[in-house]
Amino acid sequence: MDIAMPKLEWDESFSTGVPAMDEDDKRIFAYINELGDLMMGKADRNKFTKTVFSLLNFTLRHMVAEEAMLIKSGYPMMDEHAEDHKRYLNEAKNLYVKYLAGDSDSRILSAELIGVFTELLQEHIVKVDKPCGEFLARHYPEIMPHGGEGEPSWG
Ligand SMILES: [Fe+2]
Ligand SMILES: [Fe+2]
Repeated sequence: MDIAMPKLEWDESFSTGVPAMDEDDKRIFAYINELGDLMMGKADRNKFTKTVFSLLNFTLRHMVAEEAMLIKSGYPMMDEHAEDHKRYLNEAKNLYVKYLAGDSDSRILSAELIGVFTELLQEHIVKVDKPCGEFLARHYPEIMPHGGEGEPSWG
């Protein structure tokens, strides 16, 4: 019997109003869903670790790009925001290290990462990134597709 993980779906309730941020978030959703699929199937260790590494790598890149945009825009609560990013990343990294050390397996790591990233998507995006999107739209219009002179820049 084929058992599938329930999929996390991006919808407008996650939208920050900044297309570059939303596109990155959609990719994070996709990685999490991929992990869920891998967890249920019989993926080999290589494919699994590659997906986990891509997820961590992409999330780090996204957070760095987001922080850079916020700094450029003069966002006032940068420290709190960066601290929140660091907390999620460290948590995910520690779980990955535990797996690499042989202290968990792919099912455990998948479930743990799905937990961490579901919280990131539901708590951080909705409560922290969304207000930033509004700030960026007002103070850094170049980042919006039609808000300024330049092309949207990101990362
Ligand atoms: Fe953020
Ligand atoms: Fe973000």
